[in-house]
Amino acid sequence: MIASAEIKITPTTKSRLSEYDINNVPFGKIFADHMFVAEYENGKWSKCYIQPYQDVPMSYALSALHYGQAIFEGMKAYKSDDGHVSLFRPYENFNRLNKSAIRMAMPEVPEEIFIGGLRELLKLDQGWVPTSDTGSLYIRPFMISTDEAIGVKASDTYKFIIICCPAGKYYAEPVKVLIEHHYFRSVRGGVGYVKAAGNYGRSLYPTKLAQEKGFQQVIWTDSETNKYVEESGTMNLMFVIGDTLLTPALSDTILAGITRDSVLAVARDWGMKVEERKISTEEIMAAHANGTLKEAFGTGTAATIAHIRAIGYEDNLYELPAIEDRKFSPKVDEFLRNLRKGRENDMHHWMLQVC
Ligand SMILES: Cc1ncc(COP(=O)(O)O)c(C=O)c1O
Repeated sequence: MIASAEIKITPTTKSRLSEYDINNVPFGKIFADHMFVAEYENGKWSKCYIQPYQDVPMSYALSALHYGQAIFEGMKAYKSDDGHVSLFRPYENFNRLNKSAIRMAMPEVPEEIFIGGLRELLKLDQGWVPTSDTGSLYIRPFMISTDEAIGVKASDTYKFIIICCPAGKYYAEPVKVLIEHHYFRSVRGGVGYVKAAGNYGRSLYPTKLAQEKGFQQVIWTDSETNKYVEESGTMNLMFVIGDTLLTPALSDTILAGITRDSVLAVARDWGMKVEERKISTEEIMAAHANGTLKEAFGTGTAATIAHIRAIGYEDNLYELPAIEDRKFSPKVDEFLRNLRKGRENDMHHWMLQVC
């Protein structure tokens, strides 16, 4: 663990906390008082510091802007009923960031910087963690290449940064999603299994087209056969068909979601039958037709569970059972919320208390 002395801390002289009702702010727009920064140069991580949240002056030739060496994570801190602040499975985010770093030819971040930096940052900004039942502090660790030069090559310098923003419920209502056939999120041998910024940039146009048709998100299918569903927007995808929880098996075109893994673990703990395998759109449509498609939902850090109320496929809309009639997803959603608030037995040791 990095000693706090190695992280130079410059606290803000004027907290902005009193300006907001942090239990009631729009997602992703209001940032906590401080940010953590680590700089990489000459083949090693050197300076680590925490400073007041601020904009940075930068060169228009910044490598990340042109060649996309940019990766990120999304994770959350929760305040328990007794006032402690805990992170949910932070080592999974730490490991996934480094998987992304390797794939994007970027340097790995050591644990003492990722976890150590996060701990120090949260100690300073613990007042920014919402106390409401559905509230949390969304944490965005990210790394960008910072060479100031035009020319395609892996950068020699990088910055690893952590910023935080208070968050409430992500989707207020169940979502309507469209199965996308023409555009693909990721391809075999590509970067779909990591959190590279470009994955998100390329998803925006097809998502915009789906939104123009009245859907909130798309369901991505595999680019090789166009037959199998992979993810929904920026979430992993799950179905309950009959009594079985089904989700696409992981591959190099699917991001290994931490919420996905958690929901599968809880389902198994509860004795539910779980299958991780290829799921074709035909299978989903057949289950809808014969009445065995009970639930469909996305899983991800931002929303935890995003209930899917209808699926668009070709020119048809397939409505799903009402949320009140779903047995599994509302229950697992509530269980994870209570676990994060310290109200459930943390049998898998998923929570890491930081202050
Ligand atoms: C493409 C994609 N799939 C799935 C997820 C869900 O992952 P997690 O549950 O770790 O947030 C995310 C969000 O990080 C994502 O961006």
